[in-house]
Amino acid sequence: MILDDGRETAVRVYLDHNATSPVRPEVAAALGGWIDTPAGNPSSLHAEGRAAMEAMEHAREQVAELAGVPSGSIVFTSGGSEAIEAAIRGVCDRAPSGLRKIVVGSVEHSVVFGAARAFASRRFSVEEVPCDRDGRVDPDRFLARVDRGTVLAVLQWANNETGVLQPVKEVGEGCRRAGVPFLVDAVQVAGKKPLGAAESFADFLALSSHKIGGLPGAGALTVRKGIVLAPLVHGGAQEMRRRGGTPPLPAVIGFGAAAEACLDNMKTESGRLLKLRARIETQLQELLPDIRFHGQAANRLPNTVNFAVPGIEGEMLAIGLDMAGFAVSTGSACASGAVEPSHVLQAMRLTEEEARGAIRVSLGWSNTLEEVNRFLAVLPEQVTRIREARQ
Ligand SMILES: Cc1ncc(COP(=O)(O)O)c(C=O)c1O
Repeated sequence: MILDDGRETAVRVYLDHNATSPVRPEVAAALGGWIDTPAGNPSSLHAEGRAAMEAMEHAREQVAELAGVPSGSIVFTSGGSEAIEAAIRGVCDRAPSGLRKIVVGSVEHSVVFGAARAFASRRFSVEEVPCDRDGRVDPDRFLARVDRGTVLAVLQWANNETGVLQPVKEVGEGCRRAGVPFLVDAVQVAGKKPLGAAESFADFLALSSHKIGGLPGAGALTVRKGIVLAPLVHGGAQEMRRRGGTPPLPAVIGFGAAAEACLDNMKTESGRLLKLRARIETQLQELLPDIRFHGQAANRLPNTVNFAVPGIEGEMLAIGLDMAGFAVSTGSACASGAVEPSHVLQAMRLTEEEARGAIRVSLGWSNTLEEVNRFLAVLPEQVTRIREARQ
């Protein structure tokens, strides 16, 4: 970063917690001993193996508490994507004939569409339920598509790009009445809002360690008691035969420590992030009166802001901010070498051009008011710079 007086500094401001959240100090502390000393395989009988199993079961309790489910419901996976794929495949593989479709929200993460469509060509169609301009899926509209021919319903709790929260409880209760299994993608909401007794309406929840300040390489699928899933990884007896393979112990231990830290700090942290987010939104509105916020009228996570400045490409702005020392995301994803505008924003009726203008700021445990103030000072400068370069 170049300071006003021309000095260079390496201090960066990371505002991309929804992409991945930096490892929390509590996680680093919990991992210390496990990195330094040889750890056993939790399946081994010797003392090292027993200690590994004990540590893994402790992490299971910690993650279960965050998810609001009994520890026996937790199946450790390699991350959120695997958890989602395991539920979709696991339900579809065992589905009786006669079931025809998977019902999903239109703003799901691409992993949901990818896994669901992989089955569409074989046995099932995928029905997408549209959202409104603020990214909300109407529960009645969703449930109108859920019928006797539905094999599985999938809805995210919170969106990764806009932070918009979906009515998972209403939808889940309706699915339960209809006898249709319901998967909730809780990857973004976990650690940011209390999940309550989620199993009262959800059969499966997907969670991810690196989104809550743990290490990448671990995630969890919660599976409600009594539900039998075909495993995604066959062969091993681990995880009660629900996910074969040696578990990534350090990542699992870190996941547990991150879950505990999130729960301990949730109340104060969500109030703190809400204040930072409000500051960003009110200040940007003043500094850039033509700015547009996306999903602002909906109930949202306290940490996420998605906006566009008309006439400014999100990619240009993100690159400028990066060079100035700030990490943010755009509303586009790089697919096969081409930059595609976000399907989430397009589902919210933004045009392709408007979606290409989007910037996402996602805050987290590492961010301070001072960092937010620096961002608010730099962003308008970058907008002016891009506008002037065009003239
Ligand atoms: C809403 C949502 N679901 C699922 C995933 C996939 O999680 P993971 O990165 O752990 O595979 C992500 C990651 O960005 C996400 O934001």
